[in-house]
Amino acid sequence: MSPFLLTRTLPEDATDAALRADVLQGLTRTPKVLPPKWFYDSRGSELFEEITRLPEYYPTRAEREILLARAPEIAAATGARTLVELGSGSSEKTRHLLDALTGLHSYVPVDVSESALTGAAESLLAEHPGLHVHALIADFTQGLALPGTPGPRLVAFLGGTIGNLLPAERASFLASVRGLLAPGDALLLGTDLVKDESVLVRAYDDAAGVTAAFNKNVLLVINRELGADFDPRDFDHVALWDAEHEWIEMRLRARRNLTAKVPELDLVVHFAAGEEVRTEVSAKFRQDRVRTELADAGMELTHWWTDEEGRFALSLATAV
Ligand code: SAH
Ligand code: AVI
Repeated sequence: MSPFLLTRTLPEDATDAALRADVLQGLTRTPKVLPPKWFYDSRGSELFEEITRLPEYYPTRAEREILLARAPEIAAATGARTLVELGSGSSEKTRHLLDALTGLHSYVPVDVSESALTGAAESLLAEHPGLHVHALIADFTQGLALPGTPGPRLVAFLGGTIGNLLPAERASFLASVRGLLAPGDALLLGTDLVKDESVLVRAYDDAAGVTAAFNKNVLLVINRELGADFDPRDFDHVALWDAEHEWIEMRLRARRNLTAKVPELDLVVHFAAGEEVRTEVSAKFRQDRVRTELADAGMELTHWWTDEEGRFALSLATAV
């Protein structure tokens, strides 16, 4: 196997078809919704990286703190020879795991963003010349076929991205992850934790407006891919805490009555002034919920680590 392979697991037009279906369904129902995976074209991936460096956005720093402290324990507990990473993005924090997993043979980053995968692979291969990197352009919610690399496998899902799935999506996603685990394999799961509302809302509504630009990027993706004529200036970025569901919701709120055309879908979308489209949920967790959801999917929580301030958790789980 060459040191770098990039595989698209879905035909290119499948992404196109999925975007069409999501926009058609999401913008013709009430209330309007769009799934968050469409944020991540190359501009969206860059904006997310900028978010991770914002003073208000603590999750990346908190998770890095845990990884730095616990990578040797994770390596000892798993003895992983293959590291699969779902929603790997820039793989920035992953290097702490790669450094600690001394017996590692293969790294399999999985992401919908091709630009993020190729950018990450370039620097990882330079730093780990012996490592086999097999990147997959894939939607991790659509069932995954992994390459036949040596076990044990560690499947990492970092950043709190699991919180961007709705509860029913999370349940089926975790069941599919469970299906990937052979005896001796493990799941490493990053979850952001419930905390003070003001800290949470600031993390999703930063002073510099980077999260607002990230949120509005979905409109630019729809304009480019489906010929639509959304003007991002017609929308306000909204981030609010839903205490009942314990999640942050990001929305785009129309500033005026407006109509947008989506020619590729033969669709005209109306927004009343003040009408919102939900673009993301970002669920925050407590240990009990993580343990229960893992158990419901046939996995057992074996380790739970948090940063010093208890803002973020990394869980290690095995199949039961
Ligand atoms: N793991 C990194 C990046 C998190 S950003 C970190 O912790 O910083 C979320 C990443 O998941 C993005 O790179 C995005 O492109 C990817 N992603 C979002 N939805 C996805 C999906 N359904 N399938 C595959 N990748 C997805
Ligand atoms: C990728 N995911 C975990 C981020 C989050 O915090 O939910 C995406 C994000 N949305 C706004 N800021 C960051």
